[in-house]
Amino acid sequence: MEFIETVAKSPDTPILILGETGTGKELIAGALHARSPNFNGPLITVNCAAIPKELIESELFGYEKGAFSGANISGKKGLIEEAKHGTLFLDEVGDLSLDAQAKLLRFLEYGEFYRIGSTKKLKIKTRVVSATNKDLKKLIDNGLLRKDLYFRLGVIKVQIPSLKERRTDIIPLAKHFLYEFSKKFDKTFTSIDSEAETALKGYNWAGNVRELKNLVERGVLTGKGPELTPRDLGIDRVNAGEINKPGRNIPCFPALAPAGIDLSSVQESLEKFYIEEALEMTGDNETKAAKLLNINYHTFRYRRSQITTTRGGGLF
Ligand SMILES: Nc1ncnc2c1ncn2[C@@H]1O[C@H](COP(=O)(O)OP(=O)(O)OP(=O)(O)O)[C@@H](O)[C@H]1O
Ligand SMILES: [Mg+2]
Repeated sequence: MEFIETVAKSPDTPILILGETGTGKELIAGALHARSPNFNGPLITVNCAAIPKELIESELFGYEKGAFSGANISGKKGLIEEAKHGTLFLDEVGDLSLDAQAKLLRFLEYGEFYRIGSTKKLKIKTRVVSATNKDLKKLIDNGLLRKDLYFRLGVIKVQIPSLKERRTDIIPLAKHFLYEFSKKFDKTFTSIDSEAETALKGYNWAGNVRELKNLVERGVLTGKGPELTPRDLGIDRVNAGEINKPGRNIPCFPALAPAGIDLSSVQESLEKFYIEEALEMTGDNETKAAKLLNINYHTFRYRRSQITTTRGGGLF
């Protein structure tokens, strides 16, 4: 955050935020804007992966009237213009088309661009912050990202560590989410019990802060409080300390052998495992168990009726 405070001070130096999914890249982009001299201007977010490749140029640079068939009759401002004197946040920047990359590079170097179909040069001041969870060097090697653009976007690079690399953040973040969701759901949660803390600290966190947030949300919603327990979180089974407990059935996937595997039976076993776990965690409450699995009550009842009650078949 100290680094963010420092680099935010320039109004137009491009900043590239790197980090795995769920580490907080969008949150940092917002923090950069709020701490920059442009904070009175707009923060315009563009998800480059969500806009079809053939539309991204007109979205970013805008177009003149009659620029192409279907173009708005009066022409349209692009998002770069909308971000004037503010921040343009290009999320998933690795997904930009090569044509759009060339135009963006020109804009980053000279601050100028043309609306599609126009010969009038426009000049705009805005800060470009970009982010991605992709390996940009690999995109460059595969010819999908211009090297010169990569260097220009990343004049300043902010690498957000994964949650596993900053385990001391886990409990403060979990507490923050606990209070937030307890208030939101009108619950009485005030603390995390010590076993749950150990489980949280030891967990793998492939989805980083987003996964932690989701887990705490679910725990607060389904639990009773006032202490958040491993059962509320549903992560005691995968915690390293618990993994060797006798009688635990931890799911594992069979290797894909040259002779192949039977995908349907793997799916069946996995479904059976989670249905039984959900029933155990909720004290056989089918409504809560269905919620834990994100399926509706009737689907849950139907699927339960399809599985046999004995545990530990082929897979586990
Ligand atoms: N330090 C933090 N404090 C509070 N909430 C956080 C923090 N970091 C991340 N979050 C929350 O975690 C969730 C994921 O963060 P964000 O959307 O910024 O991740 P991201 O890196 O952009 O992920 P992706 O690559 O999948 O787009 C959001 O709900 C965000 O508010
Ligand atoms: Mg994001």
